[in-house]
Amino acid sequence: MQDLMKRIQNRKAVVGIIGMGYVGLPLAQTFRASGFPVIGFDIDEAKIKALMAGRSYIKHITAASVREMRKGDHFSATSDFSRLRKVDAIIICVPTPLTKEREPDMSYIVGTSEAIQPNLKRGQLVVLESTTYPGTTREVMIPILGRSGLVAGKDYYVAFSPEREDPGNPNFSTRQIPKVVGGLDKESLALASALYGAAVQRVVPVSSCEVAEATKVTENIYRCVNIALVNELKMIYDRMGIDVWEVLEAAGTKPFGFGKKENKTFFTPGPGLGGHCIPIDPFYLTWKAREFGCATRFIELAGEINTGMPDYVISRLMFALNDRGRAVRGAKVCVLGLAYKPDVDDMRESPSITLIEKLKGLGAKVSYNDPYIPKAPKQREHNLGLVSVRLTPKFLASQDAVIISTNHSDYDYAWIVRHSRLVVDSRNACVKVRNRSKIIKA
Ligand SMILES: NC(=O)c1ccc[n+]([C@@H]2O[C@H](COP(=O)([O-])OP(=O)(O)OC[C@H]3O[C@@H](n4cnc5c(N)ncnc54)[C@H](O)[C@@H]3O)[C@@H](O)[C@H]2O)c1
Repeated sequence: MQDLMKRIQNRKAVVGIIGMGYVGLPLAQTFRASGFPVIGFDIDEAKIKALMAGRSYIKHITAASVREMRKGDHFSATSDFSRLRKVDAIIICVPTPLTKEREPDMSYIVGTSEAIQPNLKRGQLVVLESTTYPGTTREVMIPILGRSGLVAGKDYYVAFSPEREDPGNPNFSTRQIPKVVGGLDKESLALASALYGAAVQRVVPVSSCEVAEATKVTENIYRCVNIALVNELKMIYDRMGIDVWEVLEAAGTKPFGFGKKENKTFFTPGPGLGGHCIPIDPFYLTWKAREFGCATRFIELAGEINTGMPDYVISRLMFALNDRGRAVRGAKVCVLGLAYKPDVDDMRESPSITLIEKLKGLGAKVSYNDPYIPKAPKQREHNLGLVSVRLTPKFLASQDAVIISTNHSDYDYAWIVRHSRLVVDSRNACVKVRNRSKIIKA
């Protein structure tokens, strides 16, 4: 242990990060910027090629910052997992999606653990960062690593440290976000805390891997439930002729006991939930809770409300078209924003996808525009087969309706409203537009 501790303190420890995605890449940059040699591992050759050529594939990470990381030859990316033997600390940042049956898909964590196992060396530290249910590190990862013959906590060290990336948020870099760390034992906790402590501003040690795992799912459940709450209020207040956004703005002036915009504890309604985390992670706990005979009613209810929101938006569109003597079938509808949240290029689990698929199913002629997603990529469950249309006055005028699904800040909402016939606004993006006659809030 002392050996590794010394290497961490001297910034000599080689950090191997598995999964060079939205989480792994900024983490690699943070360790590099703190002076550690870093090796990035991924199974996606295109990402490895890009990194080795000093290119970025994530919108908010610049190519210049990738080139900076490459300087001095202390960073490389590879798909050769035998190079894990050259690493002192292995950090796992692979996806944790749900299966079709909405159960935890552990295949990435299992696959990664199997790739580590033959290369595991005495004295290494292995940290799982992927969001998952409490118990994963001990019950899934360690038994696979154990096939090497090495014993966790004795021959090598294990910790769980949840990832808290907020892609595109300029106020919080990986370095600034406190890092919760739970170790398998005292030594593991000390090593993992020292490692992260050398790269981020604050480490929050907790008593076990399970507490650290539960911390992450709790954070996401908190967001999921509160988003569902404001989404439900949106539908109720709409029936009453009350504008939910105005209500929330006013409620947000309370100096205590209500969420604040500055720290993201202020929740706003929308067309549903998106992203890799919040629509998915709560169901990791739901699944695990069943083992203990517990029902997760809040989580299920929140999921039900949030997944029903695209239907609500479509019902608002239907009524608005009906008022104009039109049906959805045959109507030209353009969805603005494919990303799951403003100003990012990530469309995973985006409610815009559901909107598009449902509208297509109803017979609408659907298109989309997203300045950050020129072509809708094929995903595991979806293949929209669409490319982003160019927004021109002529195009907007040709549409029966546009739906604002993602409120990218690059959009000129006054211009969009001016040239459109009908704007269905699910995000209150047009709040500042004076002429309201064509705008329907949804
Ligand atoms: N994106 C976020 O904002 C965010 C925030 C908090 C937590 N998380 C969690 O972090 C984890 C990673 O998410 P992400 O958004 O970075 O995912 P991502 O899809 O952007 O990146 C994952 C990377 O892992 C690679 N990969 C997949 N299987 C692999 C394997 N067997 N070996 C090596 N590499 C493999 C993929 O090619 C990809 O590059 C997930 O558990 C997620 O829930 C993500």
